[in-house]
Amino acid sequence: PVKKRSVAALTAPCLQARELAYCPYSEFSVGAAILTADGAIITGANVENASYGLTVCAERTAVQRAVLEGHRQFKAIAVTCDIKDRFVGPCGACRQVLMEFGVDWTVYLTKPDGSYKETSLSELLPMAFSRADLVKPQ
Ligand code: THU
Repeated sequence: PVKKRSVAALTAPCLQARELAYCPYSEFSVGAAILTADGAIITGANVENASYGLTVCAERTAVQRAVLEGHRQFKAIAVTCDIKDRFVGPCGACRQVLMEFGVDWTVYLTKPDGSYKETSLSELLPMAFSRADLVKPQ
């Protein structure tokens, strides 16, 4: 969990990033913003493709970008989409990709009006497979 003021500092860029979504096929724009351990904020949005399956979700564009900017330790992610009347969680694939960088960081499901619900990755993806499971028997 992050202080209330810091949550607003994360949800605002998340909402802004959603406006940059490239989603001509679904017309469903998603924004994400990651807060790194050293206080940087890295945003992402979904980027679709005419070959639909090649679409990359907002959460994953943010993770890829963060790693390439030198960040591997993350505190929280805010995610937002167009849906106004309920909180929407990240897709299963994104939950797994977020899990790669920590089993228990904070996730803020954010509505377009900026209101949010705080949850965590371990709540969203219980009993997950992670790098700890790759240890081979001797
Ligand atoms: N999408 C995301 O960006 N994140 C999710 O967690 C769920 C889905 C995108 C993918 C696609 O561009 C659009 O939303 C509709 O599925």
